[in-house]
Parts: sequence; structure tokens; C-alpha cells
Amino acid sequence: MRHGFIGYGNVIQAIHKAVKNSDDNTFGYYSKTNSHKESRAFCSISELTINSDVIWLGIKPQNILSVLGILKKEDLKDKLIISIVAGKSIGFIAESIGSDISITRIMTNLAIEFGSSVTAYASNDVENPYRNNIRELLEGLGVLIEMPEKDFDIFTAIFGSGPAFLLKLLDVQKTKIMEIGILEHDVNRMLIGLLAGTTDYYREYCESLSIDRLIDNIASKGGTTEAGIRYLTDNNIDLLFDNVINIAQKRATEI
Ligand SMILES: NC(=O)c1ccc[n+]([C@@H]2O[C@H](COP(=O)([O-])OP(=O)(O)OC[C@H]3O[C@@H](n4cnc5c(N)ncnc54)[C@H](OP(=O)(O)O)[C@@H]3O)[C@@H](O)[C@H]2O)c1
Repeated sequence: MRHGFIGYGNVIQAIHKAVKNSDDNTFGYYSKTNSHKESRAFCSISELTINSDVIWLGIKPQNILSVLGILKKEDLKDKLIISIVAGKSIGFIAESIGSDISITRIMTNLAIEFGSSVTAYASNDVENPYRNNIRELLEGLGVLIEMPEKDFDIFTAIFGSGPAFLLKLLDVQKTKIMEIGILEHDVNRMLIGLLAGTTDYYREYCESLSIDRLIDNIASKGGTTEAGIRYLTDNNIDLLFDNVINIAQKRATEI
């Protein structure tokens, strides 16, 4: 498969890093500055289209219309278009480039670089021979879930933005532990251990126990965890975090 990336920002670079060594795939990009050295640069969207089977839209939502305006002049008949752009539907893209073009929309996160993303997937019903290959490729890069596009905004808020929300909490813990004078390198190893251990614990028991029960197992009566969890509950952590997700979801819809 010949992959052409329009836009070569954080997410596309993460995808490229994850798959660049896979057999039978070639890669090239076109971006605003065309200044990236890590991949072959095409001098125009037209050159990229001619040399690509799969065209990835990796620009920001505010740039998609101008890119589609150029793309629609190309012969896209046998191409598969994959959009990673938040908040822009398949219908929106088809309105510009034509409803007879095969379009897939995904929402992913930066963990795709390490093969540990959570990715939502939707497509229109225009068949394309590369679609299965792309599905397989994405399945190899983490959890892939097919879902209706109407659910993409809530998915974006939880899994697209999710790593940043979890890291924000981790940063409070990091700042606190740094205060006792441990070297940052060691603090990072400790926090990675905390995340990995929590992930293992969740993975082992999530099918059989609720999250409340998993917390209860950590919180012994009258102990430190119980005190901390009670403080979180009394201060409406559920509501606060629910609002964080609602606001991010609303923003995805507005975009
Ligand atoms: N960041 C995330 O974690 C995340 C998660 C889920 C979804 N997304 C979605 O993924 C998309 C990309 O996000 P990002 O964070 O990777 O963005 P980014 O790092 O800002 O990259 C945007 C890219 O678009 C290029 N570009 C801008 N205008 C262009 C134009 N007219 N023609 C061609 N290329 C143009 C830029 O070119 P230069 O490099 O030359 O400046 C840059 O490579 C967004 O739509 C976002 O909604 C992001």
C-alpha cells in the first residue's frame, strides 16, 4: 500500500513511526511547510494523490475545508481516504470530494505510536480493496472499535483527550513526590510503575469486579486510601470529572 499523509503533525507522525517498518507499505506526505525530514515530501497534494492508494487527512479541523477544496480536483476514484480530523464527519468530507469516494474516519490518540492506542472506526459504504488492510493495520496498533459516527465526540473526549486528562492527575502526584527530593528520573520510573501496576490490577479483575470494589480492596477501614477517597467524594470528583468529559465532548461537537 502506498500511504500519502496530508499534514504531518503529532498524530500522523505517531502513526508513521508505528507502521514505517511494516512490509509492503510506502509513505510520503505533504504539509504546510513541507519541512519534515523523517519522510518523503511530495511537492503538492496532486503529486501525493497520484502516488498514493490511501490518503490520510491529518490536518487540524480549521484547515480541512481548504485541503478538501484542492483534493476534490484530483482523481480519487480508486483511493481510500482516511480522516483523523476531530469533529468532521464522513458526510462533511463526502460533501466536498463526492459521495462515490471511499472514506474511513478514525479517532485515535498518541499512544498509537506504541501500538497501544484506542481507536474508533467508521466508514461509508463505498468499497475499496485497501479497507481490510487498513483495518488489520489499525488492529495491530491497539484496540480498534467500530462505532457509529454520532458517538465519536464522546469517544474523542474520553480516549482522544484521555491521555492528557490522566497525565494532569499524574502531574499532581509527580510534583508532590518531587518535593521530597527524589531525582526526576527515579520519580518517572516510580510513576510508570504506578500506572503499570494499576493497569495490571484493572486488567486482571475488571471482568469480575466493579471499579468501586477494586477501590474498596485498596482502602482498608480507617486507612489512608479511605480518607483520600472520602475527600474526593465529598468534593464531587465524579461531577468534576464528568464535567471535564462533557466540556471536551461539547468542544468536539462545536469543532
Ligand atoms: N493531538 C492528538 O492527540 C489528537 C488526538 C485525536 C485526534 N486528533 C486530530 O488529529 C488531527 C491532527 O492533529 P495534530 O495534533 O497531529 O495536529 P498538528 O500537530 O498541529 O499537525 C497539523 C498538520 O497539518 C499541517 N497543515 C496545516 N495546514 C495545512 C494545509 N493547508 N495543507 C497541508 N497540511 C497542512 C501542518 O503542517 P506543518 O507541519 O508543515 O506545519 C501539520 O503537519 C486534528 O484534526 C486533531 O483533531 C489529534
